[in-house]
Amino acid sequence: MSSSFPLRYRLANARLAVTPSDHGGMGFIDNGFLEVDNGFISAVGDSSQGSANKADEGVKVFDCQGRLITPGLIDCHTHLIYGGAREGEFEQRLQGVSYETIARQGGGINATVSATRQTDEDALAQAAAGRIDHLLAEGVTTVEIKSGYGLDTQTEVKMLRAARKIADMRPVDVQTTFLGAHAVPPEYAGRSDEYIEYVCTDMLPKVAEQKLADAVDGFCEGIAFSCDQIARVFHSATACNLPVKLHAEQLSNLGGAALVARFGGMSADHIEYLDQAGVEAMAKAGTLAVLLPGAFYYLGEVQKPPVQALRDAGVPIAVATDHNPGSSPVLSLLATMNMACVLFGLTPEEALLAVTRNAAKALRLNDRGILAAGKKADIVIWRSAAVVDLVYALGRNLCHSVIRNGEHVGGAEL
Ligand code: NIG
Ligand code: FE
Repeated sequence: MSSSFPLRYRLANARLAVTPSDHGGMGFIDNGFLEVDNGFISAVGDSSQGSANKADEGVKVFDCQGRLITPGLIDCHTHLIYGGAREGEFEQRLQGVSYETIARQGGGINATVSATRQTDEDALAQAAAGRIDHLLAEGVTTVEIKSGYGLDTQTEVKMLRAARKIADMRPVDVQTTFLGAHAVPPEYAGRSDEYIEYVCTDMLPKVAEQKLADAVDGFCEGIAFSCDQIARVFHSATACNLPVKLHAEQLSNLGGAALVARFGGMSADHIEYLDQAGVEAMAKAGTLAVLLPGAFYYLGEVQKPPVQALRDAGVPIAVATDHNPGSSPVLSLLATMNMACVLFGLTPEEALLAVTRNAAKALRLNDRGILAAGKKADIVIWRSAAVVDLVYALGRNLCHSVIRNGEHVGGAEL
């Protein structure tokens, strides 16, 4: 990691992607400048307007040559910590076996649970760091990581510790989420209520006490847990002062989005089968939509999330990789943005907002996600001036330089 920048500097001659209002679209300052002071953005402006915009004497100026500058990208939903891999299931699915069938036969999430229980904390962290390098190369500066492949207290704690460790191993901020209610582990087969009891009375309080999680998630689905069971987990999370979010309406509509909204939750994620009542409940509660086109793509899903209804209701849309060894082994947030455009009909600007401002909101991180004075100086400089170029060509990474907390952490130096 190099640090080519002084504590205070100015990025000049840049095209800045700014968000003028909290809910609206993206705006641009074509001949813009951005000043960084001690890890934070101290000024953002238009160089063509007035002499007040000249850099103070002594402030080093870097010429961005007209390139686009955006906030650092945020991957707000991942399962990056796990043991083993599931290529075999990928091949089975290519032969027509469904994700649900594989799960019911003991594969799927439980296959990864078995491998994760057998892998130690350092090995889990090392493997995840290697995967995260792919995301960092594209300008990701914040990543959310869930547990959920331990399904016993000891292994869930191990996963969350490994996730926290990543922040010391790579230049990235990590938000952790406890996902004990991800699947029924084999030792509780046929006793899902007892498993939920264990999650609520043992796992969750211990995770909260050790401050290992920033939020609590669950999987509300026929192959996982009912709304009643998830509600019990959410009550327990609330008692531990942890905010909630939910894998909801991915394969069917059980009313999970309305449930997470009822708890004032952060987001409902996947939501291909979300109905109008769910959209309205989310809008009313301020619960965000997190779209995961990687899982949609890999599972050959045909039901699309109700993007227009979400727009009409003013529900902010975030997009994330959902990286996991089963339903979404994707390690590119740019490719995921492309999928959100091609498969779900987002515009390139909506896709960019979805991995910056809205992803920050989905994680309730108010200090990042937009280019404005006072925000963390997490910044990406791109090899183009146009947002569409970021998502146009699958497999092309136009990231030029990555700055985190004001320091150069990736790509070329200026
Ligand atoms: O977000 N939907 C549930 N959980 C993950 C998949 C986990 C797995 O298959 O290992 C998801 O798609
Ligand atoms: Fe997920």
